[in-house]
Amino acid sequence: MGKGFYISKPTGFVLLGLGAGAVLTILTLSVVYTQEKRKNEANSIDETRMVMTTAAYSTSAPSNKPWDKYRLPDTLRPEYYNVTLWPRLVADKQGMYIFTGKSGVAFKCVKETNLIIIHSNKLNFTLTSEMHHAKLTGLEGTHAPAVLKTWFQTQTQFMVIQLKENLQVGKSYWLYTEFRGELSDDLGGFYRSEYVENGVKKVVATTQMQPTAARNAFPCFDEPSMKAIFHLTLLHPPGTVALANGMELGTESMTINNQEVLLTRFEPTEKMSTYLLAFVVSEFINIRSPPEANVLIRIWGRREAIANGQGDYALNVTFPILKYFEKYYNTKYPLSKSDQIALPDFAAGAMENWGLVTYRETSLFYDPKVSSNEDREWVVTVITHELAHMWFGNLVTMRWWNDLWLNEGFASYVSYLGADYAEPTWNIKDLMVLQQVQRAFAVDALVSSHPLSSREDEVITPDQIDELFDTITYSKGAAILRMLSEFLSESVFAKGLHNYLHEYAYSNTVHTDLWKKLQEVVDADSSIQLPASVNEIMNRWILQMGFPVVTIDTQTGSISQQHFLIDPEAVVDKPSDYNYEWFVPITWMKNGSNMGQHWLLTKTASYEPMKTDTDWVLANLNVTGYYRVNYDSHNWERLLTQLTSDHKVISVLNRAQIIDDAFHLARAEIINITLALRTTQYLSEEKEYIPWESAIRNLEYFFLMFDRSEVFGPLQTYLRGKAQPLFDHFKVITSNWTQKPPRYMDQYNQQNVISMACKTGVKGCSELTRMWYRQWMKKPDSNPIPPHLKPIVYCNAIATGGVEEWDFGWKMFKNSTIGGEAEKLLFGLSCTKVPWLLNRYLEYTMDPNQIRKQDIIFTIVYVASNEIGQPLAWDFIRANWESIIKDFEGGSFFGSLILGVIKKFSTKFELQQLQRFKEDIAASGFSFGTHAIEQAIERTKANIKWVSENKAQVMNWLIEQSVSL
Ligand SMILES: *[C@@H]1O[C@H](CO)[C@@H](O)[C@H](O)[C@H]1NC(C)=O
Ligand SMILES: *[C@@H]1O[C@H](CO)[C@@H](O)[C@H](O)[C@H]1NC(C)=O
Ligand SMILES: *[C@@H]1O[C@H](CO)[C@@H](O)[C@H](O)[C@H]1NC(C)=O
Ligand SMILES: *[C@@H]1O[C@H](CO)[C@@H](O)[C@H](O)[C@H]1NC(C)=O
Ligand SMILES: [Zn+2]
Repeated sequence: MGKGFYISKPTGFVLLGLGAGAVLTILTLSVVYTQEKRKNEANSIDETRMVMTTAAYSTSAPSNKPWDKYRLPDTLRPEYYNVTLWPRLVADKQGMYIFTGKSGVAFKCVKETNLIIIHSNKLNFTLTSEMHHAKLTGLEGTHAPAVLKTWFQTQTQFMVIQLKENLQVGKSYWLYTEFRGELSDDLGGFYRSEYVENGVKKVVATTQMQPTAARNAFPCFDEPSMKAIFHLTLLHPPGTVALANGMELGTESMTINNQEVLLTRFEPTEKMSTYLLAFVVSEFINIRSPPEANVLIRIWGRREAIANGQGDYALNVTFPILKYFEKYYNTKYPLSKSDQIALPDFAAGAMENWGLVTYRETSLFYDPKVSSNEDREWVVTVITHELAHMWFGNLVTMRWWNDLWLNEGFASYVSYLGADYAEPTWNIKDLMVLQQVQRAFAVDALVSSHPLSSREDEVITPDQIDELFDTITYSKGAAILRMLSEFLSESVFAKGLHNYLHEYAYSNTVHTDLWKKLQEVVDADSSIQLPASVNEIMNRWILQMGFPVVTIDTQTGSISQQHFLIDPEAVVDKPSDYNYEWFVPITWMKNGSNMGQHWLLTKTASYEPMKTDTDWVLANLNVTGYYRVNYDSHNWERLLTQLTSDHKVISVLNRAQIIDDAFHLARAEIINITLALRTTQYLSEEKEYIPWESAIRNLEYFFLMFDRSEVFGPLQTYLRGKAQPLFDHFKVITSNWTQKPPRYMDQYNQQNVISMACKTGVKGCSELTRMWYRQWMKKPDSNPIPPHLKPIVYCNAIATGGVEEWDFGWKMFKNSTIGGEAEKLLFGLSCTKVPWLLNRYLEYTMDPNQIRKQDIIFTIVYVASNEIGQPLAWDFIRANWESIIKDFEGGSFFGSLILGVIKKFSTKFELQQLQRFKEDIAASGFSFGTHAIEQAIERTKANIKWVSENKAQVMNWLIEQSVSL
């Protein structure tokens, strides 16, 4: 299944409400799952699979025959295709939705062979008069050898045509086939999506080819370097419109077998890869850009959504973003149009098909009345991500999937630049640190991580290719490229890019081609000095997993680096050519003055300017480097003093990073836990979102571990002292909660304010949420709660309310027609403190008329995140696990459920219960789920260890704080 855009939307309520977003690594895997699930119900990332990618690499082909290898032989090159497809939008007599097709491909023979091996999957072919599945003719007067036999290799997804004689090198041939396939609802290849409009079911035929599903639509050389030109024709029912990568050339109506159909032809495509093909037949309507734009921009979607203006925001930003990228890449957009189309069913967030970008509805539609600022941000960043690919990915394409990280990391990185251009007041570039860098740190600090770049021969099968669409590829890729752009300077980076796109337009590259073009610019620019070539520097970051923690000792002026691992006892068993050492660009400041950049090239080095007894030193300015930083205790003290005396001398991003580094260093047992806690002391002065968010994510683990223990009281008191001033500040800037805060980041932070204030008992907070919710109960048709605050308000109002609030929320949940709204209520309902309501809510998960199957896991995990609900959810899954398992095909769902429910486990007693549960499952003969329970046991053990080592210290420290107040 393709995932054109993997990165999930940051979800306020998931982060705030239950800490599924906690960055602490013990939770990371379930986090990745939860977030991925949210955007992608149909296509879950199996977390165990994600971590163990390398294990699957050893699969070898069953024999050495060319058709048993997964890669195409290098004997033939496609030139162009003529493809006609006819999707049927009503089921046939057998109840099946099908499409039929005719396809020809012109290819050139480049090495002598008597075999034509071409991808084809799940297609049924019509036999020719010679009783073969395909017909071969020679082009330009060439004689074509006769077909000996044709057959299909289902494992490797090939159609094989064996010829009686060899093809001639340098000659071109035409291979023609007729076939039919199923227009199934599996979200891959040529598939169907359904929705209801005015009570009538509508069917859309659409595609998702990336990475390996073009072969499900018609026979093709389905590898990214097999670029060709595609002439596409679609047959479709009257009343529908057909779209494809190229512009429609015209539509004629005709009658086939007494059936009236329309035939639409399209402009031939540019020379392109098969995975970027797209075609859609639908009853959608569009809005389009004003005629003065030289590229036609259209936003397509369901009639109702477009008529209601849900595509307006996308239309507003698409053209400026396209122009921005033309300028940034200094290369014209080569097509005459750019369609953006929102599909009711779509597996990924969006897909960058050249000229016809496909989106999930939530990634393209924005409704100011119900959507929040985050929803809008998601739309603009997804559009920029996809449009960035129009050049980087589509015009110049990786030779093979092993370089996917370059494609995706790049689009993820520059999407922030484009979004910043479209929404200049948001400071959206700063969010990269929370959304990409810290996210990558979390996964990359595990021994189970993997290098960004794999060898070409390590990624062969479709499953191996699928596995590459992960956090490392997207987020670490983005973080690494941001670092590169920073140390080269943005202008050198952009110039190198331009040269790269220019040289390799319409062809394929490996990542070293980009390094080469960047190196040329560096060599020509005397103002930039690198300690080694771009290639040598970058190899250390992409060919070995993980990242360093840099330790600066200001007493001695020594700096050193060490592979950062969150688990202090972890043993790395993967060798690295670079010995887990990196070339680290250290930007730094002393007492607030920028001291420039210093390269650390060895394990340890001495750097005299960093030696000081009096000044504070801060490194990794704005977290542009992909590494964490530790200091000697004197410097830590000086930094803490600076934070409390005047934190604004240190940038917002570095304030966030000081907190994040400290908590993770403590977690890895490199510094003391109380030092980490002390980085939060200055928060009573902090008004900015990013440092608060960083602190909240890190403290989430404390809530999980302590919310049922005696530490909770002092923790609440301490944090109330920090949250109170922020709550008061927001009360002022929102005119007593009646207005939106004017700054974008403050709209984000408002969620943190209310969440923290209510959680820690700040006076006025629960009154506020109750008041809002009461107003809504009085007038259910006009919800007065600002969209971005809904999850928190629902949660707190239901938590402090009783059955009346709960039942109202449930009624609104059942009535809601907007997916996002239902999700928010689903979460809010789990917050009640009334045990019987929680139990009834859990029972509802057993009844598909009450709670849909796709929401069961969320519901149970949400309830388990509530300290009252935790034991209820645990009892519930132990009592019902057999029927829960039956409901889900794969073990990954069950895994996420278990890991979600045991998040708070931290006692020996809980560990024993978990072990008994494992035995019960094993005894009943179920094989799956055991892996997840092993993981759950491991996490519980780690929690027990962490609590036993830290609880007393944390408790004492918190008590001291309240005494000194
Ligand atoms: C493929 O289609 C193009 C455009 O319609 C046409 O010019 C060409 O002759 C076709 N090629 C073959 C081999 O049929
Ligand atoms: C293709 O053939 C198989 C085997 O006869 C059949 O089960 C399947 O339904 C066919 N698919 C289509 C789309 O006709
Ligand atoms: C789109 O732009 C128009 C004109 O600038 C503006 O009036 C409208 O509010 C914008 N729509 C959205 C949803 O941003
Ligand atoms: C850090 O980022 C802020 C924006 O968040 C910017 O104003 C500042 O100049 C940056 N500092 C450095 C040293 O790049
Ligand atoms: Zn992408």
